[in-house]
Amino acid sequence: MKYIITVLTLCTALCQSLGQSCDVDGILHSSFIDVQLVLDANQCGSCHKGQNNKGNWNYDSYNSFLKKGDCGFEMIVHGDASNSFFFRKILGVNTDCGESNEGVHTLPQSDVGQIESWINFGAPELCVPLYADVKQILDNNGCNSCHGNDPGEWRYDSYLSLLNGEMDSSCSDYDVIVKGNSSQSLLFDKINNDGAVSCGDAMNASNGPMDAMEVAKIRDWINSGAYETAASLPVILSRFSLKDDNGDVHLAWSTEEEIATEKFVVERSTSGQNFQEISELKSEGSATEGYNYEYLDRDPFIGENYYRLKILDLDGSYKYSNIRLIRMKSEETTILVYPNPAVSRERLTVRWLPRADEESTYLNIVDVNGQNLHRKIIFEGTNYVRLPYLLDGVYYIIVEDLFGGFLLERVVIIN
Ligand code: HEC
Ligand code: HEC
Repeated sequence: MKYIITVLTLCTALCQSLGQSCDVDGILHSSFIDVQLVLDANQCGSCHKGQNNKGNWNYDSYNSFLKKGDCGFEMIVHGDASNSFFFRKILGVNTDCGESNEGVHTLPQSDVGQIESWINFGAPELCVPLYADVKQILDNNGCNSCHGNDPGEWRYDSYLSLLNGEMDSSCSDYDVIVKGNSSQSLLFDKINNDGAVSCGDAMNASNGPMDAMEVAKIRDWINSGAYETAASLPVILSRFSLKDDNGDVHLAWSTEEEIATEKFVVERSTSGQNFQEISELKSEGSATEGYNYEYLDRDPFIGENYYRLKILDLDGSYKYSNIRLIRMKSEETTILVYPNPAVSRERLTVRWLPRADEESTYLNIVDVNGQNLHRKIIFEGTNYVRLPYLLDGVYYIIVEDLFGGFLLERVVIIN
């Protein structure tokens, strides 16, 4: 009985967090509206919606969401959460801009996971269509009148001809479809009605530009991988979790079905970027049956360890799983402060790794006379502290700990 209750609670927790309103032949994914709801529920709107445009960024519309804010970084890399500035912001990873770890920008794990899946699925605005839907849209717009039966021309009557069909000589340097990247795909370029076309003419519906919603659907189709059918969508990981196993990291994941999967490469990083391969496991599942995989990392770093799986298919294509984060405790509480020497009003990075289950503590900046000049809450892991104006000289960073002790780090200010 106890077992059943655990399973039920787990499901309620998981299932509620999955606000995935799109169902592509049984495969669920989130659309932009689901993401807006998650952000609303986390009060992001109080600073980034309607009148509120902090950091010169808001999520009122899909376009404003994708637009760069003050930091100037690419908000979303379709299909690649770990290189998307937005994802790094909500994960609380070092973004080299802004004050990510101030608490307001980090979301609960389940919400982070949902947004991560959405980005890894191509960050579509709408529910993603499949090839047959795309063909239907093009037919409805009369594209078949010129791209239907002329043997020497690009045509889209089959999936393969749409992707690899013959090209007009003026456009032979371009690809009709670059999977995962609509902005490099000639098909999207020719229909998106933004005025500029890389080569040849813009392609219109018989009575003018194509309907904006239809253009958006084709864009989302390309960004999410331009799949032919739902069956060719990548392996679905039903679970991917990390556990601290006496100082080792225990990774577990399971699949529901594996179609043409070759292997899983386990990758690790300390920053959430620049992942390194640490091991690989060959596929054990089949098209009808999944498998439970386990891997033990006996040599994790102290502090943040990010893991992800690279899932390779037999045809050489691959997808990444969601990223998971685990913080490994050290025997001793440690603190790392850089750069040192530092400059007034610049940002100081403070990595605080407590040995016990402490989530936050106080950091104080004290001068040589013992006067406290600045006091601030910091969190386990990486923090950014904006320094106040300080005269050149020696200062102490003092971090309090749960047991009444403190750690002290000497910092030199040279302005
Ligand atoms: C109390 C106000 C406040 C809340 C609440 C808030 N933010 Fe911010 N946000 C800011 C400020 C101020 C900046 C600019 C400074 C910075 O980048 O840290 C910013 C910057 C950003 C940026 C970077 C824009 C850029 O490119 O420069 C993103 C993305 C962002 N916030 C997302 C969110 C999300 C998602 C939430 C909800 C979890 C959220 N914010 C909640 C105040 C807030
Ligand atoms: C009146 C005939 C005509 C119609 C209708 C037409 N096209 Fe084209 N299309 C062409 C010609 C001619 C080219 C080659 C020259 C160029 O790229 O402008 C071309 C090129 C293309 C290409 C690039 C492939 C290549 O051979 O270079 C794509 C993609 C494309 N069209 C998509 C569409 C779509 C989508 C529609 C429907 C909205 C459409 N076309 C409607 C005549 C047409």
